[in-house]
Amino acid sequence: MPFLESLGLRYDGDAGTLHVLDQTRLPHEERWLDGSDPADMVGHIQRLSVRGAPMIGVCAALSLACASRRCTRSQLLAHAAALRAARPTAVNLMWAVDRLVAAIKADEDIPAAAEQIFAEDVARCAAMARHGAPLIAAGTRALTHCNTGGLATAGDGTALAVIRRAHAEGRLAHVWVDETRPLLQGARLTTWELARAGIPHTLITDSAAAMLMAAGRVDAVLVGADRIAANGDFANKIGTLALALLAHHHALPFYVVAPRSTVDPACPGGHAIPIEERDPDEVRGGPGAPPWAPTDVPVCNPAFDVTPAALVTAWVLDTGVLRREEVDAGALRS
Ligand code: MRU
Repeated sequence: MPFLESLGLRYDGDAGTLHVLDQTRLPHEERWLDGSDPADMVGHIQRLSVRGAPMIGVCAALSLACASRRCTRSQLLAHAAALRAARPTAVNLMWAVDRLVAAIKADEDIPAAAEQIFAEDVARCAAMARHGAPLIAAGTRALTHCNTGGLATAGDGTALAVIRRAHAEGRLAHVWVDETRPLLQGARLTTWELARAGIPHTLITDSAAAMLMAAGRVDAVLVGADRIAANGDFANKIGTLALALLAHHHALPFYVVAPRSTVDPACPGGHAIPIEERDPDEVRGGPGAPPWAPTDVPVCNPAFDVTPAALVTAWVLDTGVLRREEVDAGALRS
């Protein structure tokens, strides 16, 4: 039984334990949470202690692997159903849980199925970086949104893995990091990862992106995805659509980077992607801060938005780079 480790998780197959780095505490505190019980993992995922589309799928699977040592089949299936429903938008969660459910029903080795999902995700991150890095021209000042790095996956990330590789190859000059309201995944997590990787970066408010693009200080936008529909529309952290529209207006390349496990061929278009609505208090105040808005002000807090395929320059997948013509011809339909 292996010991598996990534930036945000530690899994001990012999002991049947899983620990996850509490992403709500970063960057100022590195606190590890026990995620060996799927019931606890549901809470970690809902509170965003564990987050990022591929990462929540991997953690859900490994948590079921831990539970398989002590739970009956029907208990495991009940845990799987609760995990599957923990967040509605990221299809990687459903994809990973469904693979575990198939293993449970077929009486297969459940830890082996979960460990396979971890290993696949690591490999897919490396493949996305390999395919995406050549798209980054020398001297590029990239802009990114939310956190798409090692905390959001089992490997080096999606969009951030491309950025890391382009930097290692000497072409990436700088990263503009959107703070990513309301929960500040960019400000808290992406800056933490980029600093650890030694990549030059500057934190900006989300609303500064337009001004920087207008001033000619951004060369490309790279983002991740929580679900890509068959027609190429995709859901990602709220604020992504605004960036895509801005990039289009300023004739800048706009890349979405994701593993195949983020593609939902059964979803015909963006209109069919379920969008998570989160707690109004996330908007009334910042993480850990007292509310700055009236405590009863009505709030609209969609966690994701949908970017239409027409605004995407290319889809960087672990299987290769797709251009619009290929997507229009059905490359994401299976
Ligand atoms: O709400 P979050 O923090 O889980 O949202 C995460 C994102 O929107 C990421 O961009 C997406 O999951 C892709 S990350 C590999």
